[in-house]
Amino acid sequence: MVRLRHGTVTLWWAPFAAADPTWLELLDPVETRRYAAYRQSADRARFLVGAVAVRRIFADDLAMAPHRVPLDRTCPNCGRPHGKVRLADHLRQPGETLEVSVSHSGTWVVVAAGRDGPVGVDVEAVDPALDHVGLARVALGDRDANALLGLGDAQRAWEFTGMWVRREAAVKATSPALPEGSPRLQVHDVVVDVNHRAAVVVVDSPPVDVVGLDARAILPPDVQSGSSNLRE
Ligand SMILES: CC(C)(COP(=O)(O)OP(=O)(O)OC[C@H]1O[C@@H](n2cnc3c(N)ncnc32)[C@H](O)[C@@H]1OP(=O)(O)O)[C@@H](O)C(=O)NCCC(=O)NCCS
Ligand SMILES: [Zn+2]
Repeated sequence: MVRLRHGTVTLWWAPFAAADPTWLELLDPVETRRYAAYRQSADRARFLVGAVAVRRIFADDLAMAPHRVPLDRTCPNCGRPHGKVRLADHLRQPGETLEVSVSHSGTWVVVAAGRDGPVGVDVEAVDPALDHVGLARVALGDRDANALLGLGDAQRAWEFTGMWVRREAAVKATSPALPEGSPRLQVHDVVVDVNHRAAVVVVDSPPVDVVGLDARAILPPDVQSGSSNLRE
């Protein structure tokens, strides 16, 4: 078991293809409905890997069984259960509770976990087919769009995706709203592979180290090896 300490944000990575349908027994009814509502099997797998990793991370931290961890996914904008996942309020200890953030794109699912305040992570597959300058101008602003001008195709796609994940990670860390005052956003670029970019953001935190680990170490090994012992 990995102890999640202050001063570190841990990124748990797994390919969506690691998903095992037997893990469905770990989900709560809300998650089961979310899983079933995805039309594409890859999207179901992405959701399942993220949800089970989140359960495992809180389960280890709280010394409880993964399927018993009470999670809240309420979206603050519309009330539907597709918002940022968090531990239910009745178990949250101010200043102590782990904050998590989930992202999935292309091959990868990543769950960030830290103890130093709100965290947001974003991973994105680099898509060479997009209108990067046009998208940047609309979604990121003129400065970012102009910085992409003059780059070759591959470099432009790479740089745009980096800008995009930094912005998305910041949105996810500060959701539903930027905190009062002048919050300091600590932005870390994260190396993934040649087809993906990722970033993690923490809000109003002392400097953190970002550590990447293989989530398959915490996903249910018992099921993968055929001897289910999930409901300990
Ligand atoms: C929410 C948002 C950040 C998700 O980003 P994305 O690139 O589409 O998808 P990602 O795979 O990176 O992230 C998805 C995860 O973000 C989390 N998430 C959802 N809403 C979130 C929010 N407002 N803030 C932080 N995290 C959020 C969820 O955990 C979700 O994963 P899960 O449902 O499998 O657990 C993006 O859609 C966005 O910026 N939306 C604008 C906010 C918005 O419109 N919200 C209201 C909808 S009514
Ligand atoms: Zn919503």
